[in-house]
Order: sequence, then C-alpha cells, then structure tokens
Amino acid sequence: MNDHRLTLVCFSPTGTTRRTLEAIAEGMGFNKPLHVDLTLPPSPGAGITEIDSGIALIGVPVYAGRVPLTAIERLKKIKARKIPAVIVVVYGNRAFEDALLELKELSIDAGFTPVAGAAFIGEHSFSGKQAPVALGRPDEKDLEAAREFGKAVGHKLDSHGHTNAASPLDVPGNVPHRERKPLAGIAPVSLEALCTLCGTCESVCPTGAVTVDVKLITDAARCILCHACVKRCPTGARVVQAEPVRAIVNRLVTNCMDRREPQTFL
Ligand SMILES: Cc1cc2nc3c(=O)[nH]c(=O)nc-3n(C[C@H](O)[C@H](O)[C@H](O)COP(=O)(O)O)c2cc1C
Ligand code: SF4
Ligand code: SF4
Repeated sequence: MNDHRLTLVCFSPTGTTRRTLEAIAEGMGFNKPLHVDLTLPPSPGAGITEIDSGIALIGVPVYAGRVPLTAIERLKKIKARKIPAVIVVVYGNRAFEDALLELKELSIDAGFTPVAGAAFIGEHSFSGKQAPVALGRPDEKDLEAAREFGKAVGHKLDSHGHTNAASPLDVPGNVPHRERKPLAGIAPVSLEALCTLCGTCESVCPTGAVTVDVKLITDAARCILCHACVKRCPTGARVVQAEPVRAIVNRLVTNCMDRREPQTFL
C-alpha cells in the first residue's frame, strides 16, 4: 500500500470525521496522507482540485440522514480520474440513513470508483455535558475499528492490484433520498458576559457566518448548525437556545443513548 499516495478528503466541522479518517488511513499504512480539507470556506476564485493518482479516502458527517449541502458544494469542486475511493460517513449515534449511498453517488459523479465504505460514530454535534450523546466518540474502540477497517481495505486493494476490478460497492440507503429538513434561520448566540471577542468562532466557522470585531455578529441565514463554534469557544459563551434545537436534543437523549457500532462495507 505504501507505494501509492492517499488523498484524505473531508468535511468535518467538529473534527470527529477527520479523526476517524486519520485512523482508517493509518490502518491502510498511510501516516501522512495528503489532506484536502473542505471544512473551511474556500478562498475566493478557488478552482477545481484534481486527484489523478493513488487512492482517496472521503469522509463527511451525516446531517438529517444525508450528506451536508455545504459538503456537497465543495465535493463538486473535486475531479478524479477513475481513482479508487473509500467512502465514510460519521454520524451521531442516531442513524446514517441515505448518507453513505449519497456519498457513493457523489464520489462516482466526481470520477472516483468507490471500493469500500463505512459508517462510523462520532460525538453528536448537538451533544454536551447536559446531553451526552455519543460523548467522546470516536473513542479508542472506534479508532481501533477504523484502523482494522483500513487494514481490510488495504488487503482488498492489494488483492485487486489497485485496478478497479473489485466488484461494485453495495451500501445501504434509499432512492429517492429522505427529504432534508433544514432548521433555517437558527444559529448559536454568544453570551456577552462570557465572550472575550477572541475570534475563535469566526476562524472555525465553515460557512463564514460569524464576524468578530468590536462586537460579534452571526448571520443566521448562513449557519448550518454544525456546532463548531459552540464546541471550540474557550469560555462557553457560544450556546444554542432555539426551541427547535432543544426539542431535537431532547429526542436524542430519549432515543439515541444506546451505543451503536461502526458498520463496514467491502
Ligand atoms: C445539522 C446536523 C444534523 C445531524 N443529523 C444527524 C443524523 O441525522 N443522524 C445522526 O446520527 N447524527 C446527526 N448529526 C450528528 C453528526 O453527524 C455527528 O455529530 C458527526 O460526528 C459530526 O461530524 P464532525 O465532527 O466531522 O463535524 C447531525 C449534526 C448536525 C450538525
Ligand atoms: S469563541 Fe467564544 S469567546 Fe471567542 S469570540 Fe466566539 S463566542 Fe466570544
Ligand atoms: S455559526 Fe453556525 S455554521 Fe458557523 S460554526 Fe457556528 S454553528 Fe457552525
């Protein structure tokens, strides 16, 4: 495996997808993959990224059982030339529904040949001390499973001589995909008493929804509720108070506390 390049492509606002992919890459024998990180807004005028050799490992989180729209927009700026791809979705212990199938379709559209897939579990973006849904995941057990999956992918690719001769990848999911139910116009707010205007929330926001200057402004219309700003705020000033989000969190705490385990498709 080491004579080939691995390109790790991810969208990962709160970092669980990226950590999972890095463990898979390690299992495949790549400790230093080339990173194409789609998490932050692309620089103005950024063009197409071409991947024309090696193997790709592509990962996104699951939002409402689908691939996040922001990730789709950015994945559409990647073009590959029949490169084998390992596709991975990371979900918050509820369900991944149509996301892996959608990622498979997107990867084929971009010119990849999906050869293996997986659904791993990451701490739910909406989780916190009060609502510990999959708190701390991927944990060591998940990362070991990710490395093992990476090894199995390596064996599969080796046995097919890095050609695309492997049988077509079958992953679960429905067509048409489930309807997206965006929580439009809702965003975290900053508690003035705790906010030091440090700017961390602006620097981690995938959609440029936050501006920090002499005061902090959030453009709720751009917010995808990824919770990166909430989780990375060093003072706990960034919180989500909107009732629809609280209702989702209550449902998660009621229904999604039993530990789910990773599923792999080879
Ligand atoms: C808007 C939104 C919708 C989500 N929908 C789902 C879902 O349908 N099922 C699920 O299990 N987790 C869901 N999650 C949780 C994320 O998939 C999960 O926390 C993932 O680990 C986040 O990945 P990241 O750390 O790479 O950002 C959702 C998270 C967000 C922000
Ligand atoms: S990260 Fe927290 S403390 Fe820093 S500017 Fe944002 S809300 Fe304020
Ligand atoms: S403002 Fe919205 S999109 Fe930006 S980091 Fe916070 S939750 Fe994510």
